[in-house]
Amino acid sequence: MITLPASLPLVDLRGAAFVSDKYAEIARLRGLGDLHPVQGGHVCLSQEAAVEVLKCRDFRFDFFQIDPNESPYLAASIEHELLNMHGGPHARLQKIVLAALRDKVMEGLRDQIRGVAEALIDAWPDKGQVDFCKDFADPYPANVLGPMFDLPYADIDGFDDWIRIGGRKVDALQSGEGVEAVEQAVRNMHGYLADMLAERRKNPGTDIFSELMLAKIDGDQLTETELLSLVGEMASAGVDTTRSQLPLILEQLLMNPDQFAKLRADPSRAMDAVNEGMRIAPLPWALPHRA
Ligand code: HEM
Repeated sequence: MITLPASLPLVDLRGAAFVSDKYAEIARLRGLGDLHPVQGGHVCLSQEAAVEVLKCRDFRFDFFQIDPNESPYLAASIEHELLNMHGGPHARLQKIVLAALRDKVMEGLRDQIRGVAEALIDAWPDKGQVDFCKDFADPYPANVLGPMFDLPYADIDGFDDWIRIGGRKVDALQSGEGVEAVEQAVRNMHGYLADMLAERRKNPGTDIFSELMLAKIDGDQLTETELLSLVGEMASAGVDTTRSQLPLILEQLLMNPDQFAKLRADPSRAMDAVNEGMRIAPLPWALPHRA
């Protein structure tokens, strides 16, 4: 049972204390309590409190507020995203997605994705410096869309632009700014994917787009709207996040050379390094949920 604090001051998650050193600020606040009031709710700062909150059956992702009238098209497209679904509809879509992302499909992609990483690294100079963000983290996840959805490499830059602009849809609906450009980018992406679907129906491949198109659980399949929203969501959710998270993990390794040495000595621990890097330096370190 969680008791909400009665008299703690409101915490500003975008305030100077958090921006200058969020670890120190979190440690300071933890000394005062597990839950602190923030704009629109509470921030949860201990594992015990998080475990209690996660037990809530109706726990779900939540935007503070979006205005659907700013763009009914964008608002409807957000509704179709897995992130914003819960309960039965979420479980239904999740089952179909898991059927599509089966081990064989993921295994088949592994070498191709490794090839994307190696091609970027091969282009680095033998000596001197590279800019990890520009020369790896930025292009890598967008290029992964090539093998993932069998997207032609020539189309990736344009697709990436739609992701960058379309990814601002919640901000745009909340602030009312740039809604038209964001809507256009999302419409362009959905239009492109609709053409791709028509093509794949005639010539299915072994990529994730084709697998999602064909996946069936007890006769239940994704509708066209669901498929296009899901692929758009996966592209948006996977590209900007990965490009921003990778440098955060590298930064942690550089700040902890003993850990970096352990990883170099045993690269099979890469998955542990990713998990720990995302735990200690998560890109989205506070997201609104409702419980
Ligand atoms: C390092 C990169 C990534 C980070 C930091 C990240 C972070 C997140 C976070 C914080 C959530 C919300 C979880 C919640 O609060 O409920 C989420 C959900 C999601 N992510 Fe990622 N993500 C990453 C990569 C990816 C990739 C590569 C994909 C797809 C190819 C992806 C697809 C999704 C989807 C579909 C959801 C919604 C899941 C659901 O609600 O069932 N993400 N991600």
